[in-house]
Amino acid sequence: MKKFLDLISEEMQKGFALAGYEEVLGRVTPSNRPDLCEYQCNGAMAGAKRYHKAPLVIAGEVAACLADSAVFSEVTAAAPGFLNLKLKTGFVKDYVNGMLAEEKFGLEMPEKPRNIVVDYGGANVAKPLHVGHLRPAIIGESIKRICRYCGHTVTGDVHLGDWGTQMGLICMELKKRCPDLVYFDESYTGEYPKESPFTVSDLGEIYPAASKRAKEDPAFKQAALEATVKIQQGVPGYLALWRHIMDVSLPDLKKNYAALDVSFDLWKGESDAKPFIPQMVADMKASGLAHESEGALVVDVKEETDTKEIPPCIILKSDGASLYATTDLATIKDRMANLHADDIIYLADKRQEMHFLQVFRTARRAGLVKPETRLVHIPFGTMNGKDGKPFKTREGGVMHLEELIREINEEMYRKIVESRHEIGEEEARQTAQVVGLSALKYGDLSNQAGKDYIFDIDRFTSFEGDTGPYILYTIVRIKSILGRCRQLEYLPEKPAVREAQNALDKDLMMQLASFSAMMEDACEELAPNRVCAYLYDLANAFNRFYHETKIVTEPDKERRDGWISLILLTLKVLEACIGVLGFSAPDRM
Ligand code: ARG
Repeated sequence: MKKFLDLISEEMQKGFALAGYEEVLGRVTPSNRPDLCEYQCNGAMAGAKRYHKAPLVIAGEVAACLADSAVFSEVTAAAPGFLNLKLKTGFVKDYVNGMLAEEKFGLEMPEKPRNIVVDYGGANVAKPLHVGHLRPAIIGESIKRICRYCGHTVTGDVHLGDWGTQMGLICMELKKRCPDLVYFDESYTGEYPKESPFTVSDLGEIYPAASKRAKEDPAFKQAALEATVKIQQGVPGYLALWRHIMDVSLPDLKKNYAALDVSFDLWKGESDAKPFIPQMVADMKASGLAHESEGALVVDVKEETDTKEIPPCIILKSDGASLYATTDLATIKDRMANLHADDIIYLADKRQEMHFLQVFRTARRAGLVKPETRLVHIPFGTMNGKDGKPFKTREGGVMHLEELIREINEEMYRKIVESRHEIGEEEARQTAQVVGLSALKYGDLSNQAGKDYIFDIDRFTSFEGDTGPYILYTIVRIKSILGRCRQLEYLPEKPAVREAQNALDKDLMMQLASFSAMMEDACEELAPNRVCAYLYDLANAFNRFYHETKIVTEPDKERRDGWISLILLTLKVLEACIGVLGFSAPDRM
């Protein structure tokens, strides 16, 4: 289905053409003055210069040409040359009924779906997930779902940090504690034990201890760096230990992501880039792109137009170890060869902007991607506490993700029990989990990703205002009205919306009608906050309508059927939107 606003603009363009003006002037936008009109067109003002005519005169002529329009019930020329527009209820009704008949409410699928890779999550193996991993998981999951909903082929890849120094640190800490472990015996040629010598909770203690030791003891740190190179080079004992670290960490990571309803198609990591590195490095050397600098292998990525210093991208350290940029570049090779990526979208902290700039430039110069391949870094800001500083535990430590989720669920539970005394313990707990996730995700996604935001548990869990629980409350309200209709056998067999009876149901219909344009924009701009803003407007439009309308007790069956159909559609659209944001609604709350 064509987009609602496009249909309206087309009609306005016809008006301009009929009056003898350029069609392009007829672009329509939502009204800035909802008290005066529903939509507006400023084309007469734009055309005044070109046609040497007063804008109000042009507007008047266009308005006259649209007197019998099937789209507009009112076209008014207003000083200095605005065209104020109201829509015919019949036109709105027909559009909304068209939406009702389509699975995705008239959203058009792309002619050429793109192969999109979303690289998000980015957990570092053996380190606990902390609040810093919350944003990439939440935003990335939503971007993945939005692009998929819009008809693209999307692959979500967690791109684990599994190849870095933390792995070497853990090996050396183990060596300190248990030097006799077979992994450290260089003359050993047998098979390594299947059982890991440590558990996931051991790791939770080993890694921080190792990291602390490295800060105090330079020799230990050096040994850990060497161990990291040994892992990367595949020295058997170290590789076997690395496998154990992966095996005990992954189930725990998966559990954590599952609690956020975040799931990945690929559980690849930096280490999976390994097979692509040698050839890539050889090519870069052969083409002269990479050169030696202070023992390291680097690629210059400066450009003439740069206004700040862009340091070279380091491909290999002097000890031959690969770095963060190396694995990212080799991973691009993998994604081009095996996923035929048209777009690769990275979710990472805005402090990594320079890293991605270097990697993207190197990838282009090395011809790892096609000229038309899109490489996008979505930099996100920090989640802060109420003091405006990065979010910490009450004791001032780094907050683990599990702890944060527990806190928000507790608060949600408290609020739910407070508002529904009769609710049973189990239902309250389950509901708190579902609603708590909406609070957490919506609180994050409703901000522009690049901005810092304040994690305000009290505001996020509120049933009122621009919050996840408010949206879910609205959904639950509609479900409950529909439940009553079902009991009374009022549900229309073939739902069809009737012409609007008043400004409130008309407004709700117009909100619904802008769904496809909003979703396309959210996909184009990779901006879940667009979906949140729409959800909030839609929920408000519904609630205004609901407060003034007796739906179930409406005696006129035609009207009642129309309204029931309208709220059915509202429910479906709300659910589709929360679906792409990555949460769901309970049946009651
Ligand atoms: N593991 C990284 C970190 O914790 C994030 C990974 C982002 N993705 C990437 N391809 N570099 O900072």
